[in-house]
Amino acid sequence: MNAAVQTLNIQAPEYVKNPKLVAWVAEMAALCKPAKIHWCDGSQAEYDALCQQLVNAGTFKPLAKRPGSYLAWTDPSDVARVEDRTYICSAKKEDAGPTNNWMAPAEMRSTLQPLFDGCMTGRTMYVVPFSMGPLGSPIAHVGIELSDSPYVAVNMKLMTRMGRAVFDVIGTDGEFVPCVHTIGAPLKDGEKDQTTWPCSKTKYIVHYPETREIWSYGSGYGGNALLGKKCFALRIASTMGRDQGWLAEHMLILGVTNPEGKKYHVAAAFPSACGKTNFSMLVPPKAFDGWKVTTIGDDIAWIKPQADGSLRAINPEAGYFGVAPGTNMLTNPNCMLSLDKNVIFTNVALTDDGDVWWEGMEADMPNKALPAHLIDWQGKDWTPQIAKETGAKAAHPNARFTVAATNNPALDEAWDDPKGVKIDAMIFGGRRSTTVPLVTEARDWTEGVYMAATMGSETTAAAFGAQGVVRRDPFAMLPFAGYNMSDYFQHWLDLGAKIEAQGAKLPKIFTTNWFRKNAEGKFVWPGYGENMRVLKWMIDRLEGQAQGQETAFGIAPQYAEINWSGLDFSAAQFDSVTNIDQAAWAEEMKLHGEHFDKLAYNLPKALLDTKAELEKRLSA
Ligand code: GTP
Ligand code: SPV
Ligand code: MN
Repeated sequence: MNAAVQTLNIQAPEYVKNPKLVAWVAEMAALCKPAKIHWCDGSQAEYDALCQQLVNAGTFKPLAKRPGSYLAWTDPSDVARVEDRTYICSAKKEDAGPTNNWMAPAEMRSTLQPLFDGCMTGRTMYVVPFSMGPLGSPIAHVGIELSDSPYVAVNMKLMTRMGRAVFDVIGTDGEFVPCVHTIGAPLKDGEKDQTTWPCSKTKYIVHYPETREIWSYGSGYGGNALLGKKCFALRIASTMGRDQGWLAEHMLILGVTNPEGKKYHVAAAFPSACGKTNFSMLVPPKAFDGWKVTTIGDDIAWIKPQADGSLRAINPEAGYFGVAPGTNMLTNPNCMLSLDKNVIFTNVALTDDGDVWWEGMEADMPNKALPAHLIDWQGKDWTPQIAKETGAKAAHPNARFTVAATNNPALDEAWDDPKGVKIDAMIFGGRRSTTVPLVTEARDWTEGVYMAATMGSETTAAAFGAQGVVRRDPFAMLPFAGYNMSDYFQHWLDLGAKIEAQGAKLPKIFTTNWFRKNAEGKFVWPGYGENMRVLKWMIDRLEGQAQGQETAFGIAPQYAEINWSGLDFSAAQFDSVTNIDQAAWAEEMKLHGEHFDKLAYNLPKALLDTKAELEKRLSA
């Protein structure tokens, strides 16, 4: 990089034995100019000390009602991923493709150089070693994140396998993904922070796929700053998967066991804030006595084809950074039970007795009573009256909790198994108030890839910007594919073709939409635990125990094939969440066409053929 940069004595601990790593830290320290360097060992003592430091700085409030738990409020400008500031800097623009922001690597490097020069002045640079996946597993990959945010360091401890043992994995010459993160708020001339959430108005989330480097500037929030998550485990890992023949996906992984003890594994891709955490922790309704759902992962899956043609998946993460609003004992009891202790809450409201609160929690209160008074996520007084008058939200809609997977009472026994679990079915599901039916099954792999590739979803608060606008979110990977989307489709098709050529059985592919609304704007499908009824139909399909019915958009359940026991859901209601409206679908197909026009470069012909078949069926 910069030849003028000198190597500093950065006092690497003696157990760090990789000269390349040490030289890189020295080079970055020379550039970022921190006042101090802290090599994280991942111990509980270190975690506690950093949390105390965040308390002293006013960034964390300890929560009296939840042992070991803290509340952080961010700057109002730093509340979600910034997709328009996220770049894939591949050597060739075509390799980033039309769905990613792109800049030539050299140009981006010279843009970032002056920004990073001195960016950590007056702060500590944390050296955070982390493993995505079980330490030492052949499927896992490790990274080092350099960050000037102690909030990032403690979140990484909960979200990844973080600590000293990672250096043993790297050894003297092992590979690691170098990740540099700064909040972009240097403290010059002994200046003190004027805010408890320093960050910068200027933001860059940058990936160099060829050299597998990540540089993040200006934000301290979530996927912008916890670089193991979206930046590494999705954007960089998807390019590794393309090159090495595997998949890095925005998918939950769950295990579902029937009363006879037979277990299936399902991976499901829903866009951000569209129900992955919920589905991965699903509690089956009473009518499904003896059925059990267990969580392997809630956000990301690394899926690798095996010699026998099976697909095995691991969750590269070790914790959940989940959406708080809407979560309660009715919608997601396992999640609520995970949040009793050792949690970092970000941008939720504070109650007068030192607990947290967010919209949706009233469902757990007697008579669904709202709290009389709160301090909202911006530190302002909140009352039901103020909310009524101004629409003010107590919690930010993208408020989140960070919690270790081991807090989850529904954690699958194989969640940490280096071999991963064998995937039997995949689901792709968007958030659509209209048009898209509750559930369909693709007739074959290619049709499944088509359905995933054309998936639309209404935007949510998980990304900065407008909410509720339908956009194409292929594979729920629009913001996360680290390379050209059409090449990504081709990669999926190739992988399927290869497995089929081996004579092995591919997972079935399904689509879902839990979010159709009626004329009053209310969700028609009850969702949450009731999604078990749909999951059970999928398993019946795997077992050849449900016939289904052909529709233009795949195979759908007949009303009588769903177990309705304990739920009052009429055939007419079922029709309202499953019917295929000809006019709406004519419009939808136009949108598929426009989407494919944008992706014309390298778009697999098989997808255009599938579109033509679908159109023929729709007009039949
Ligand atoms: P990311 O972490 O952003 O990738 O999101 P996610 O897909 O894990 O989303 P999550 O499960 O946290 O759900 C986000 C929101 O959707 C929450 O407010 C949930 O209450 C709501 N939600 C989840 N499942 C359902 C469902 O079946 N029906 C309805 N109507 N809402 C749901
Ligand atoms: C998402 O937006 O899909 C998330 C949250 O899972 S974040 O980690 O902030 O990207
Ligand atoms: Mn996500």
